[in-house]
Parts: sequence; C-alpha cells; structure tokens
Amino acid sequence: MDTPQHVAIIMDGNGRWAKKRKLTRLAGHKEGINSVKKAIEAAIRNKIPYLTLYAFSSENWNRPKEEVNGLMSLLHGFLEKELKLLIENKIQLKTIGRIHELPKATHKLIVESKEKTAHFDQLTLTIALNYSSQNEIIDAVKRIIQEERESTINLEELTYPKIASHLDTKDLPDPDLIIRTSGEYRLSNFLLLQSAYAEIYTSPILWPDFNQSHFTTALEHFAQRERRYGKIS
Ligand code: IPE
Ligand code: IPE
Ligand code: MG
Repeated sequence: MDTPQHVAIIMDGNGRWAKKRKLTRLAGHKEGINSVKKAIEAAIRNKIPYLTLYAFSSENWNRPKEEVNGLMSLLHGFLEKELKLLIENKIQLKTIGRIHELPKATHKLIVESKEKTAHFDQLTLTIALNYSSQNEIIDAVKRIIQEERESTINLEELTYPKIASHLDTKDLPDPDLIIRTSGEYRLSNFLLLQSAYAEIYTSPILWPDFNQSHFTTALEHFAQRERRYGKIS
C-alpha cells in the first residue's frame, strides 16, 4: 500500500460530540485528547514519519473566554503528562504557529518539550498552535524583507522553495494527506500553501470518536488516489 509520508489532521467535532451527550464543550475537548493518542499510535503503527495535528487556530481565540482558557489548560496538561510517552516512543515534538502568544508557562513548557525531544526521529509530531496559514505567510514575508535589508537574500532570485524555507513548516515535507473529521469540507486556514498537492479526505466521524480503524480507512482511501501533479496518467 502506498503510505503517505506526512499526514495532517484537522481535528474537528469535539463540540458537537459533547452537545450530543449534553456535556460541556470542554468535556468534548478532553475526550479529543484520547483520539490524539490514538492518532499518534496509528501513525507509528503505519510507519508514517510525519504527523501534524491542528489543535488551535488563530481564529479560535474568538471563542468564549471559558472555552479558550479550558483549551489552554488541556494543552498544558497534555504536554505535562505525555512528554514521557513522547520520549519512550522516540517522538520529536515540533510546533507551527505563533506559540510566543500562548500563556507564558505553556510557551515555556512547549519550548522545553521540543528541546528534550529534538534528537528523536521515530515520528515527528507537529502541533499547530495559534496557527493560521495567513499569519504564517505574513511572518515569512517579514523575515524575507528583513533578510533583503541585510542583503542575505536577493529578491531577483526568489523561488518557491526559498519562500517555503521561511515558513514555520520549513523542516517538514509537504503533507500528502489531509484528514478532516466531523464532515466539514474546508481547510480553515490550515497549511494552505503546503497542501497545494495534498490529497484531502473528509470523515463524518467526530474527532473524539476517531480511532485507529478510521485512520486506517483514510490511508486506504489515500492509497487509491492517483496523484498527477498536473501531468496526465
Ligand atoms: C475542534 O472541535 C477542536 C478545536 C477547534 C479546538 P470544535 O471545538 O471545533 O468542535 P465543533 O466543530 O464545534 O463540533
Ligand atoms: C479548525 O476547526 C481548527 C482546528 C481544528 C483547531 P474550527 O472548528 O475552528 O473551524 P471552522 O470554524 O469550523 O472553520
Ligand atoms: Mg469545529
């Protein structure tokens, strides 16, 4: 089976999962953490070297304060509890997004967790936190302009790979497969440039219900796709 090198997941549907059970939205997010662990296990089992998870978009700050605070503390707790699991499984943690805008203690914990796992290569787990493609592009353009001023880049020779090397994803291959759960058909500001030739798979399953067998189904669909890259069969 043709397996993707990089799978990226838009983990959606926690709120609807909770609503169906008359629980708080936060209870849905809490349950979603179990699915995060299952996705990591599935990636390892299927020998996928890069897994990227969209956990918090730049637009998600516009949710009620209580939900945002709850999400931040769940993220903090996840990192505290699961660092051991990352180390045991030789998983390198990376992030994309403006992590310096997260709560100070969480930012510090992220930086430390990344340092402690930087030498691992069994799986590269990238979490998109306070991420939006549009913000990522703004940040890349600013870096390029700065380098132009310092004469370390020549704009006449600007190529797409040069631009890509200024994105948050500079050390990652482009995603081959983007999975979105909860039956929505949109990218919501996620890896817009990087997914130029990604295969997109949407699952009706709400994220807290998404398990290893759903992950495998997505891989099976991917294996059936013909990637043409603008050429013909
Ligand atoms: C995805 O679930 C998790 C985050 C965006 C943080 P949602 O919270 O978006 O769940 P729905 O879409 O409201 O069901
Ligand atoms: C996308 O889900 C962001 C994450 C999964 C973190 P949203 O629920 O925020 O997206 P929209 O608002 O439905 O497009
Ligand atoms: Mg949603």
